[in-house]
Amino acid sequence: MSDSWWRQAVVYQIYPRSFADANGDGIGDLRGITSRVEHLRDLGVDAVWLSPFYPSALADGGYDVDDYRDVDPKLGTLADFDEMQAALHAAGIKLIVDIVPNHSSNRHEWFRAALAAGPGSPERERYVFRRGGGPNGEEPPSDWVGYFGGPTWEPVGDGDWYLHLFAPEQPDFNWANDEVRADFLRTLRFWSDRGVDGFRVDVATALVKDMSLPLPTQAELDAEDVVPGTHRLHDRDELSEVYAEWRAVFDSYDPPRMAVAEAWVPADRIKRYTSPDSLGQAFNFDLLQAQWDAAAFRAIIEEHRRLDLASGSSSTWVLSNHDVIRHRSRYGLPPGTDETAWLRSGGQDPAPDLERGLRRARAATLLLLALPGSTYLYQGEELGLPEVADIPVGARQDPVWAISGGDVKGRDGCRVPLPWEATGPSFGFGAGPAHLPQPGWFAGLAVATQSDDEESTLSFYREAIRARRRLQTAESVEITDSAGDDGDTVLQFARPNGWTSITNFGTEAVELPAGRVVISSGPVEDGKLPGETTVWLVAAEG
Ligand code: GLC
Ligand code: CA
Repeated sequence: MSDSWWRQAVVYQIYPRSFADANGDGIGDLRGITSRVEHLRDLGVDAVWLSPFYPSALADGGYDVDDYRDVDPKLGTLADFDEMQAALHAAGIKLIVDIVPNHSSNRHEWFRAALAAGPGSPERERYVFRRGGGPNGEEPPSDWVGYFGGPTWEPVGDGDWYLHLFAPEQPDFNWANDEVRADFLRTLRFWSDRGVDGFRVDVATALVKDMSLPLPTQAELDAEDVVPGTHRLHDRDELSEVYAEWRAVFDSYDPPRMAVAEAWVPADRIKRYTSPDSLGQAFNFDLLQAQWDAAAFRAIIEEHRRLDLASGSSSTWVLSNHDVIRHRSRYGLPPGTDETAWLRSGGQDPAPDLERGLRRARAATLLLLALPGSTYLYQGEELGLPEVADIPVGARQDPVWAISGGDVKGRDGCRVPLPWEATGPSFGFGAGPAHLPQPGWFAGLAVATQSDDEESTLSFYREAIRARRRLQTAESVEITDSAGDDGDTVLQFARPNGWTSITNFGTEAVELPAGRVVISSGPVEDGKLPGETTVWLVAAEG
């Protein structure tokens, strides 16, 4: 079991700049994390996934890395890292670090060397430079649009342009280059030698690209008839070679290091990342994108269980992360709400029903925690934090905001520093104001406010994770037909030991089958399961 702890783990994502600030400069740091390990231990999580903490100008919240084998001085030192890791390990919590292989920052020493060395140099071969079009190279090599909405090519003034699928400060590496491949293996060994238990692989689908000429147009790239595995920029079959090399490094450690891919690909492509000779696990973003609907949840769960059993991987379940609107808000919005437009309205139009959002969020969490596989939680969801949808214009940090000319608000609203106390300049986050402004209503959701309240969302998360640990068995699970319902509104499944989870997606209460209630996401009375509620049952004697 120790080799495969990750197969059924509860993993808590820390976005370090917004978790806890030990030195009061407004930015969360590694010593802040060390000071809050108790919170993680009380919550009962098995592992922490730490978003990037490397030296960075923060053009994209740290996903623009200057140096892969160091700690950002704003966040601490390598010694602070070791201390944090030791504190987590002493609390029985594993550590997964985020690795960003698709692009570095434009301040990385290799990129600076590439600019200095000029066209045609080996230094430029480590990135994706191409000559511009037009008589003097003044036209971009193609009309591609990046993930953040802007152009993907940036001129460097000598006729060459470099590719950046994300912000201009994030030049893409050339994964056909041996030095790039070797350097990442070195980085994986660096952190593995230091004792980390695993890696989350950022944009795991984009590393390998087909840049042969002529480059297609954006319209050609978007063509629907691209054979899977052959798209120029995304999810190419050759990625397996890269990850096979990585796997060899991971497996040279005892215990082997785990990896989880950020892979926004259709379910039938995911095994390329999750098989045992590849990264081993990948995020399944289907539930994060699903409507609150029993049939939708059922279809996703069944499909992923089938695929994961076939690939030898374990499933992953995710409702939130640092890139999406917090799920309490999402579940409080009417189906079909355009989230970008909703953020543009400052979270006003339409007004979310946050009570309903919380009810559904708690029910969904309890459902996820009963499933075989790993559940990934995002910091603050254990407090029931909604999205902060009205961050003032001047405080916005997400590069999407600037690239879209202020049209798309971006992801800052799920990255607001956590409230630990009900009072203080940043609600106990640090001794001064936080780098993103926190709303006054954070006081009512602070850790200290909820900690001793048995009815609070924080207490609910603690109890649910504890109960899961007690009940957890082999990974098998059976989706049974729901009692007293045609299956349209109720989703029920069980483990072989009788641990049964029932979620009522509807609004009318339904009859509960016999059994002892272990925990429920909301009040359960008179043998009835209210709407938008999940309950766990065991055999009456159990
Ligand atoms: C991933 C990260 C996101 C980042 C992007 C570029 O999608 O989760 O936060 O902006 O990669 O590195
Ligand atoms: Ca700090």
